[in-house]
Amino acid sequence: MTALSTSVTIRRATSADTDRLVSVLAEAFFDGPVADWLIPNHDDRRAVYHRYFTLALRHGLDHGHVDTTAGLSAVAIWYPRLEPPRPAPPEHQAALEAATSRYAPKFTLLEAMFDAFHPREPHHYLAYVAVSPGQQGCGVGAALLGSYHRRLDALGLPAYLEASNMRNRRLYLRLGYRAGPPLLLPTSGPTIWRMWRGPAGAAGPAAFPATESQPGRRAR
Ligand SMILES: CC(C)(COP(=O)(O)OP(=O)(O)OC[C@H]1O[C@@H](n2cnc3c(N)ncnc32)[C@H](O)[C@@H]1OP(=O)(O)O)[C@@H](O)C(=O)NCCC(=O)NCCS
Repeated sequence: MTALSTSVTIRRATSADTDRLVSVLAEAFFDGPVADWLIPNHDDRRAVYHRYFTLALRHGLDHGHVDTTAGLSAVAIWYPRLEPPRPAPPEHQAALEAATSRYAPKFTLLEAMFDAFHPREPHHYLAYVAVSPGQQGCGVGAALLGSYHRRLDALGLPAYLEASNMRNRRLYLRLGYRAGPPLLLPTSGPTIWRMWRGPAGAAGPAAFPATESQPGRRAR
């Protein structure tokens, strides 16, 4: 466990935390341009997000690194991407379709776009970060990410993420990321800000890296 100056205690999440952290993800992501684009109907959104984030969290626990706080008020799902990821198994698409039902085409498109525009350079990928809505804006998200960034800095590794709106993009800029060429989701979708945080000690800001050249591969 890491006790931070902001008094946020960070620890690695386990499967025992699943129910609470799925709720944090589903509630934190409920509002916003990506949610409006993916699932315009709010009742459907609640049910689909619960199933979708159950899938995402379990995948993170099994294949990535999931951090949370002592009070389970926040969650960050990271994946090391030190070599090109293997293609997702067919079960992934089947599970995605089961979780998202009639909204599956847009979720599939979103994942395909994220894969197609993913940097090739070795890095750690922040797939999701969420803070419980009642506790946002109090420094929890910055503390959660800061803890992981310190580990990456010690290893000399960069980080990559997709920011879903201008407000969280501002937080990432403050945490040392720089914005690369954005993604515009098709069919009147929102802009996605691709963000890169270079390795510690680099001279000057790191250039935004080359993009994944093989759509259809994914690691999350
Ligand atoms: C983005 C998020 C993880 C930041 O955690 P946090 O604990 O609220 O952030 P901190 O208190 O450490 O830092 C505050 C900054 O976070 C960002 N932020 C805070 N609340 C936010 C919200 N509801 N939506 C988006 N960004 C938010 C802003 O940049 C804010 O700075 P500002 O007050 O100058 O605008 C959290 O707000 C959240 O879960 N938002 C909804 C889900 C989301 O957008 N996740 C990221 C997807 S890329």
